[in-house]
Amino acid sequence: MSVEPKVAANGSHEALRIDVDRLLARLDELGAIGRIDGPNGEWGNARLALTDDDRLGRDLVVTWMRDLGLDITIDAIGNVVATRPGADPTLAPVMVGSHIDTVGTGGRFDGNLGVLAGLEVAETLAQHDIVTERAFQVAFFTDEEGARFAPDMLGSLVYVGGMPVETALDTIAADDGARLGDELERIGYAGPVPCPTAITPHAFVELHIEQGPVLEDEGITIGVVEGVQGISWTEIVIVGQSAHAGTTPMRLRRDPAYCAGAVATFVRDLTRRFGHDQVGTVGRIDVYPNLVNVVPSRVVMTVDLRNTDDSALVQAESLLETFLSELAASEGVEISTRRLARFEPVDFDPAMIDLVGATAERLGHSTRRMSSGAGHDAQMLARICPTAMIFTPSVNGLSHNIAEFTEAADIEAGANVLLQVVLDRLSVRA
Ligand code: GLV
Ligand code: MN
Ligand code: MN
Repeated sequence: MSVEPKVAANGSHEALRIDVDRLLARLDELGAIGRIDGPNGEWGNARLALTDDDRLGRDLVVTWMRDLGLDITIDAIGNVVATRPGADPTLAPVMVGSHIDTVGTGGRFDGNLGVLAGLEVAETLAQHDIVTERAFQVAFFTDEEGARFAPDMLGSLVYVGGMPVETALDTIAADDGARLGDELERIGYAGPVPCPTAITPHAFVELHIEQGPVLEDEGITIGVVEGVQGISWTEIVIVGQSAHAGTTPMRLRRDPAYCAGAVATFVRDLTRRFGHDQVGTVGRIDVYPNLVNVVPSRVVMTVDLRNTDDSALVQAESLLETFLSELAASEGVEISTRRLARFEPVDFDPAMIDLVGATAERLGHSTRRMSSGAGHDAQMLARICPTAMIFTPSVNGLSHNIAEFTEAADIEAGANVLLQVVLDRLSVRA
């Protein structure tokens, strides 16, 4: 790169800003792939990992990466990393990124914002001929949501060496029984680059919507994320006896649907007992054969437990296990469990957290330190490099809902904080 950088009048790049209209246009264009419309004008996405729509979304983002002249690599689990070289190739890169897969009834900002804001940072650097000592990388990681292939954050987990790539490729989809590795090949994203990564970033920063109500409620623009709570996902299979709904006396039933209801009630009661920091969700209940006049033979259901305190989470898991054994004995059913995901709480890097907070304040934004309730790729990257996250408000606190929305001004604020944090870590050549 031979172009001289443009330096602001004060000798720094503090005046540099992203172009929010360009970022919003890309969010809309990506959101059009797998779009779902609601009855009141709200719209979101169904772009489950490694489906045809995920492929179309990936192709679009990769085209944008190419158009920006970035060097693109695809690894063995389908993570895509685009690199803008730095002046000193011996230095570790600064990486930003997130995911572009969504849950089946997702919003168009969750994940997509972090990836496209990263592209916006790359374009801003290019437009102003900024020369940086370190390379800048924008990544999107495979299957962050875990809605089709558990666990969540699967691509970034493999990226940092937390799961062997072979195990990840053998993961089977909850809904359609597809094998992850086959789907990756099918959509053309089984890349040649080995995973885990051989390159340790100098720093990782993820911009993401909050996905909860706190920032909006308190009228704050930027969430300075200190860490992510622990996550425990369990799949429960309850097998009973299929029988006639009219003729089978209640005392002789072995009814998995009743048991599923009891589990859901237990989970809610448990969160009440544990208090505010414990959340618990029964998100999936599949009943077989699912007919009005048949006592079901089988239920497959999931329990999602989260807590910022890992010892409390361990206790919640153990109470659930005890409850399931007692339920199996009292109802005459067989209950088996499988752990789909288990991640301990993560603390981000103190210096990176301070940098995010100081940068947001320098740009004139109100800030608040907070923990993340949702899982994020950043919690995996935190295993290998100094990491932090920037949150922007979610209207009505909604996410994993097609009505998920973030105001343009908040997107602009978050992306400019991302730009300035990245500039700090990249070392700009003045
Ligand atoms: C994943 O993003 C989760 O928090 O469930
Ligand atoms: Mn997300
Ligand atoms: Mn999500």
